[in-house]
Amino acid sequence: MQEPDNVNDPKVIVALDVPSAEEALVLAARLPATACRLKVGKELFTSAGPALVRTLVERGHGIFLDLKFHDIPNTVAQACGAAARLGVWMVNVHALGGTRMMTAAREAIEGLAHRPKLIGVTVLTSMAASDLEEIGLAGDPESAAVRLAGLAQRSGLDGVVCSAREARTLRRSFGAAFQLVTPGIRPADAGADDQARIATPANAVRDGASYLVIGRPITRAADPAAALAAINAEIESATKGLAA
Ligand code: C5P
Repeated sequence: MQEPDNVNDPKVIVALDVPSAEEALVLAARLPATACRLKVGKELFTSAGPALVRTLVERGHGIFLDLKFHDIPNTVAQACGAAARLGVWMVNVHALGGTRMMTAAREAIEGLAHRPKLIGVTVLTSMAASDLEEIGLAGDPESAAVRLAGLAQRSGLDGVVCSAREARTLRRSFGAAFQLVTPGIRPADAGADDQARIATPANAVRDGASYLVIGRPITRAADPAAALAAINAEIESATKGLAA
């Protein structure tokens, strides 16, 4: 298991799912950089661009650039190099791009002064067995996710995005150093929103999650910093329980 270090290495990644730089900066200003990282995804990046990412990095925030690159190996490698030069803390690629693509991505950032963590996306949680069959992928989503996580590890990636429900199996299969980034997290007293298979922060950590992606329970709270602090306290006591 990873060291329980929720201060120097905060476990929460807050999803900045807002449409503009202005809204992102207002939200980010309410969230201490020492208590969380921030996820910039396709909507925000497409509207606000690299300038916003640079500003957030300059303000001391650790940024997960969630653009899920998937293209020919050279293109993905160049995109990962560009993300590293932006100073992001984490970047991701689709494991469906295969080991040549993932290896090229890793090689592009290796040895750089600032090397982001490189994470693979296995099977999108929106995909059901029938969606996989339609595109010619054999097996159920869970076994496809394990197979793709294996390819990610073999390519030297640092870990994968997965549901907290898969974390225990993946942790057992891929060892303590492989990083598991889990969305679909809801504190026990929060609503599920549109997430179907949710886990509490404490359960996700107990099952082996390394980092928790959390959006609305924090971003839509009346006091986002207080919501984040409560979640961090829950994570802290769950990790203490693991260490004991
Ligand atoms: O608001 P909420 O906590 O549901 O936000 C979760 C974030 O994680 C969103 O940015 C969503 O796109 C992302 N995500 C997810 N499920 C996945 C992969 C990413 O909810 N399988």
